[in-house]
Amino acid sequence: MLVAETLPVEMYTSPMVFAGLQHAVFGKSWLPIGHASQMPKPGNYVAMNMAGFPVLAVRGKDNIIRAFRNACSHLGAPLRDEGAGTFSDGARMACQYHRWEFDSQTGKLGSATGFGSSEPVDPEDYPCLTIKKFDRLQFALPQLKCETWRGVVFVNMDPSDNVVPLMDYIAPLEARMKHIPMDQYTVRKTASHDIDCNALVYLANYGEGAHIPSIHPELAEMIVAEEYKVEVVHPIAFHTAPPRPNQPVNGVWAYMYPNMGVNEYAGDGVMIEIMNPVTPTKTRLNYIYLFAEGTPQAMVDEIVAASYNTTMQDKRICEGVQATYNAPNINGLGFRQGVSSPRHERSPMRIYNEVLQALRWG
Ligand code: FES
Ligand SMILES: [Fe+2]
Repeated sequence: MLVAETLPVEMYTSPMVFAGLQHAVFGKSWLPIGHASQMPKPGNYVAMNMAGFPVLAVRGKDNIIRAFRNACSHLGAPLRDEGAGTFSDGARMACQYHRWEFDSQTGKLGSATGFGSSEPVDPEDYPCLTIKKFDRLQFALPQLKCETWRGVVFVNMDPSDNVVPLMDYIAPLEARMKHIPMDQYTVRKTASHDIDCNALVYLANYGEGAHIPSIHPELAEMIVAEEYKVEVVHPIAFHTAPPRPNQPVNGVWAYMYPNMGVNEYAGDGVMIEIMNPVTPTKTRLNYIYLFAEGTPQAMVDEIVAASYNTTMQDKRICEGVQATYNAPNINGLGFRQGVSSPRHERSPMRIYNEVLQALRWG
């Protein structure tokens, strides 16, 4: 029987490897940030720190959603804190700190409050500072690539021309999810959960169903867990298990490398799960629950409660695994590296492989 080595434990704690993940993986991938229904009108925005980088998606006056760096060119304040909201003037985005205003279609700096004509300054009084003419063109907010798939808004921080268009990248998922009109669904609930583990620990956990009978007894009752299957059509992994009758889950989950889950529910609902690395040992999950109009609140509540329960169970075990990876290797007795089962853990294997390749260690 062949097995595959997982990653050495140092990779789950090292700030250097984490920086590699931020730049080489998250800095070059399509990353979900929200759903268009959170931004129905010009000036509506969603702000989220993606792998540590502050991102702002905003709908412009022309109705197009674009993404910018959510850090003001004055002193770097976030224009808005994380979450969804509205800029009062749909055409302009005003920074919350000193009200610098940026065009929501181009990111260009419009008015820079308080930066008008000033008392003359003598550079000789400030010999250690660079004193220069204020050129507002140099202070535009950098724009990021931004595309939408079925209402889900994605950003890509790679400015190069090498980026595969989102619709090409996501094609295997699009083919399987044609029947779900997610673009017509609206957000009924958002939630976020912090897990004290490296993102790769959580991604590996999401990537296999072999732990369901032991870690998720309630979920195991909802599906035929013995028939849980994972099929990898990179960059997607499809998870299926036949649901038992009258259960809130649909027995279909999908993962898109590197950090999106799509969890289907019975009836007309899905949850977009954004798996977001925060530090080498902390990961934030952002959940966006989307439902068709008219879905009864009781059904939404039941699904959210079941999902919360499953997440808390995953949180406990992932934090336990991370604690092992953090542990000192006293007298050489420590855990150093695991193995994956090609039967159950092909999705984690693919993730490890992609990450090593991106870091050019493979
Ligand atoms: S930091 Fe944004 S206006 Fe000062
Ligand atoms: Fe799980």
